[in-house]
This record gives sequence, structure tokens and C-alpha cells, in this order.
Amino acid sequence: MTNSTHTNDSSQNWVSGPVAEAQISAIKQMAMLSAQIEGAASLTWGVPSFRTPEIIRRGVQQQLDQDDAIGKYTLPDGLPELRDLVVETHARETGITIDANDNVLITAGNMQGLSTLFRVTISPGDEIILTDPSFASHFQQIKLCDGQAVSWPLDEQQGWALDVETLPSLITEKTKAIVIVSPSNPTGKIFSESELIRVGEIARQHNILILLDDPYSHFTYENRDRYFNLASIESLRDNLVYLFTFSKAYAMSGWRLGYMILPAALKKQALKVHDADLICTPHISQSAGIVALSNPPNHMAEFEQILNQRRTLICERLDRLSHIFEYVKPEGAYYVFPRIVAEHDNAWDFSINLLNKAKVTVTPGSAFGSRGENHVRMAYCVPDETINLAFDRMETFFGVGQA
Ligand SMILES: Cc1ncc(COP(=O)(O)O)c(C=O)c1O
Repeated sequence: MTNSTHTNDSSQNWVSGPVAEAQISAIKQMAMLSAQIEGAASLTWGVPSFRTPEIIRRGVQQQLDQDDAIGKYTLPDGLPELRDLVVETHARETGITIDANDNVLITAGNMQGLSTLFRVTISPGDEIILTDPSFASHFQQIKLCDGQAVSWPLDEQQGWALDVETLPSLITEKTKAIVIVSPSNPTGKIFSESELIRVGEIARQHNILILLDDPYSHFTYENRDRYFNLASIESLRDNLVYLFTFSKAYAMSGWRLGYMILPAALKKQALKVHDADLICTPHISQSAGIVALSNPPNHMAEFEQILNQRRTLICERLDRLSHIFEYVKPEGAYYVFPRIVAEHDNAWDFSINLLNKAKVTVTPGSAFGSRGENHVRMAYCVPDETINLAFDRMETFFGVGQA
């Protein structure tokens, strides 16, 4: 398995062009390669090490015994009780009042939500603007819809900030949407309120959608005041979809649960795709969501505190390898995206070599767009021991620099 060749085997003429062209995300490729190397220290996949909070686990256990319907389909857009809780949560977090029937769709996570939206919006050749670097899977999802991802370079010199002035020049009559993730994966950047508001204005002027993919807004550390939720802008209601996932903030990645807040007309279209693909999000996961949203999120402060300590640790360890990596301190999420300053051919070969020779797994930055080349992504949502083991091995492999 390599990232440079796709599975386009011409003898398999039953495989569609877009599928033949697409690749499994390099994050998962590296995770699978890593699983074959016994004892590899993996910083590749952004799966939080935490258990799903006990209150959610216990609540679901109870419902399994008491709720006769838990093994049955729900309505396609989700359990009414969960949608009502989403309305309350969204009002608390953004000040915006939405309608549980018109505007809420319970998803099997943000990947499924985004995939649905790309299917709704993209006809062959249509364009979606992605920051570069961007989350690896978004590129593949767009490709699978026969769409075109348009790269919007982030400014590395400014700590991976948005370069809002270049945005209008990327918009064509084929542009359907802009995807925003803040705090960003893979850079950890929190985009500023003024930049985001400007993006919103530009989107409205050109009548394009903003897809606000939000896995990480609860992990902002000392920068909480700088986090701004664009979904709180009333005038963007008709142009914006807000996608929240329970995967990270509630350590529920395996439950596959999220929700979308979207304009009523778009929800009607999205439901066609959602119903055809999935019928509904698994009932048991929706029940877990009810427990999650009807109790105070007491676990989150602890999650954030632990992640903050891990961020300090990984930055200290990176400082000792300054002859290999140069990095911008992440402001949020739980990734760091260092540039490789040591001699190397490309990020993919560098990462494979590191895995095979030092038993350390990172994700090649090229998976996140062309601006990610010559970088690697390290996820610090893993225990301290894994971070230390990975860096002890890298110090042995590369030698320690001048910290
Ligand atoms: C930006 C971004 N979007 C979506 C996802 C996937 O979210 P989910 O588990 O809800 O599908 C991730 C996971 O790493 C992510 O970083």
C-alpha cells in the first residue's frame, strides 16, 4: 500500500472512475501499516485515548434494559428527544434558535454528515474550497462525488492563519461550498473572529455554503476567548451548515454520532441521501447522545487539562529535535504539524522510513494538501507514555539536537 498509487486496476472495469481515483486516507493507511509493526508508537490517528464518560455508558446500559424500542430504527432525522436537546445545546452555544424538525439532522458522525452534504451539493466538476492543509478525508469525499477540491493555502508564516484576501479569487461559478474547521486539523490553528466573519460575508455575497465541521471547539486551552463559532451569526443561517461530532469532545468516536444544523430546504435534500444510505443513525448511539446532552459535560474540563499537559510534553520533546522539526505551537485541537527541516525526499517516504526504522508512526503532511508536503502530523491525544516512547525512539534514530 502506498500513497502514490491508487487502486486503478484497468482489469476491474466495474470500478467507477471516481472510486478508482480516490484513496483511503493516509491517516488510516499509516494506522494499518503501524498495526503490522509490533510495538510501534503511534501518533498517527486522532482517536482520543479517553473512555466514553461513565455517565453515558451507565445511561445506555439502563436504556438497553428499559427501552423496548432501542433495537429499532428511529425516524430518519433522529429521535425527537435528541433533536430537542440539540436545539437547546445550539441555543446555549450560539444564541441561535433553530427548529428541531426543520433544521436538525442526527448523523453517524461528521464524516457521514459531510459526505451527505457533498452528495447533495456536487454535480460532476463542481468545486469545494478547502483550506490547504485540510483534513485528509475531505479531499477523498469530494473526489468520490466527482467534485474538485480547490486549495486555499493557509499562511504558515502567520501560524497557519486564513488568508481571507485570496478567497474571492478562488470562487468560480462552479463553487458550491467552503469547508472550515476551527480549531484546525492538522495545524491546531484557531481562526480569528474577524477572519471568519469576513469568510461569511464573502460566502453570502457569492451565495455559496459554509460547511462548519466542528470536532474540536471544546479543546482550545488558554485560547478559549479567541474561539469564535461562525454558526452564531444570524445572517448566515441560510448559508451555513454547522456539524458537531461527539467523537472527540465526548470520546465517542466508535459510537459514530453527530448532528447537523442546516437550513430547512437543505435538510429536505440531505434527508434523501441520509435515508438512502443509512435509514437512520444507530438508535443505541442516539440514546447515548441523549444521555450526553441531558447531563452537564463534567468530563470536558478533565479531557482538556490532560490534552493541555500532553501538548506541553510534545512541544518540549519537539524542541529537543529542533534539527529535525520546526513547528508552530498548536492553539487548539490535539495535533501538531511540524515542518521537516532535516534532509528528506518527501513526507510520505520520511514517515514510512520512520515507521520501519524507528517504529514511530506519524501521518505524512502531504495527505492534508500540497501545503502539507514536507510536514508530518502528530496527534497528541495518546497517553504520555506513547508520546515519550515515540520521541525517545526518534532521539535515538536522529540524535538529540541543541535544545
Ligand atoms: C476535521 C475532522 N472532521 C471530521 C472528522 C471525523 O469525525 P467523525 O468521527 O464525527 O466522523 C475528524 C476526525 O478526525 C476531523 O478531524
